[in-house]
Amino acid sequence: MDHTLLSSPLQGFTDFRFRNAQNKYFGGIDTFYSPYIRLNGKLVIKPSYQRDILPENNIGLEVIPQIITNDADEFLFVAKYVQELGYKELNWNLGCPYPMVTKCGMGSGLISNTEKINQILDKVHSESDIIVSMKMRLGYENCEEILKTLPIIESYPVKNVAIHARIGKQLYKGGVNLDAFQECVENTKLKLYYNGDITTVTKFNEMQERFPTIDHWMIGRGLIADPFLPSMIKNNTSEYPSNKMELFSAFHETLYEGYSESLSGSTHILLKMHHLWEYFSAIFSNPHKVAKNIKKAKSIRNYEATVKEIIKAG
Ligand SMILES: Cc1cc2nc3c(=O)[nH]c(=O)nc-3n(C[C@H](O)[C@H](O)[C@H](O)COP(=O)(O)O)c2cc1C
Repeated sequence: MDHTLLSSPLQGFTDFRFRNAQNKYFGGIDTFYSPYIRLNGKLVIKPSYQRDILPENNIGLEVIPQIITNDADEFLFVAKYVQELGYKELNWNLGCPYPMVTKCGMGSGLISNTEKINQILDKVHSESDIIVSMKMRLGYENCEEILKTLPIIESYPVKNVAIHARIGKQLYKGGVNLDAFQECVENTKLKLYYNGDITTVTKFNEMQERFPTIDHWMIGRGLIADPFLPSMIKNNTSEYPSNKMELFSAFHETLYEGYSESLSGSTHILLKMHHLWEYFSAIFSNPHKVAKNIKKAKSIRNYEATVKEIIKAG
């Protein structure tokens, strides 16, 4: 079976710079979802969201924009905006677990509100020809929620539903609930994508054996921690290429240069890079030491010297 690998969006991480660099040096991702667009009560799209999905910043990449909202008019506004840029599909986020979002009845806080979901899907499908796809968790409080929601979604021509197999209340703690995901597979005709904790080729193979009907897989944190992962999955190998560190170094350089140009001041640049290294450290032989050394690098000069040493040690 041909497997499609999708980059699951991470706000603050998988922006257009990351997507371009990942695709250039490692490849293996078929489609990138961009981190969600959120409107703040007004029908205005922030410049940073605009920049992220501009076609000229995403040349040669397959990108699907995403929105987080509980309002049909906001959905329609963003749908029109992305269509004008040439996109055909808008992904709707019903997965975000953070209280800032769920307390407003958005993200995973919306999953149990079948009435609202129905109303939004109805209005969007009657007033727009945008292709709608969805990304959601199993529920907020419990994983029965999704089982009540899927039949509503099924009555619309939603392209697919990607499921992060956790509930919102868990945030990122605890394991994924594969039994609950299985129940979704058995109870819907919708096209389902799997998402959650794909971090190694072995894990991917286990998932694939457990869910033989799934052929679309979304990788979130695992892609930042190991940007080699999708191409290794595609080649079914756990072996890194012999020029692993060379590739990583060029990838890092590209990101670092990009952020040095676009962010103002060393504090912002270092903060961005520190966050990335919380994930990057995983592919090094001593992840703990790598993370510690990066954290200690508080000036640009120190940071650059530390990265050089880390890459040399491998
Ligand atoms: C810092 C952070 C930011 C995220 N931002 C988004 C987002 O903008 N849109 C979205 O659909 N999911 C977002 N997610 C969720 C991930 O896309 C993904 O669904 C989740 O991490 C589970 O997949 P994984 O185990 O492969 O990482 C975010 C996750 C994290 C940790």
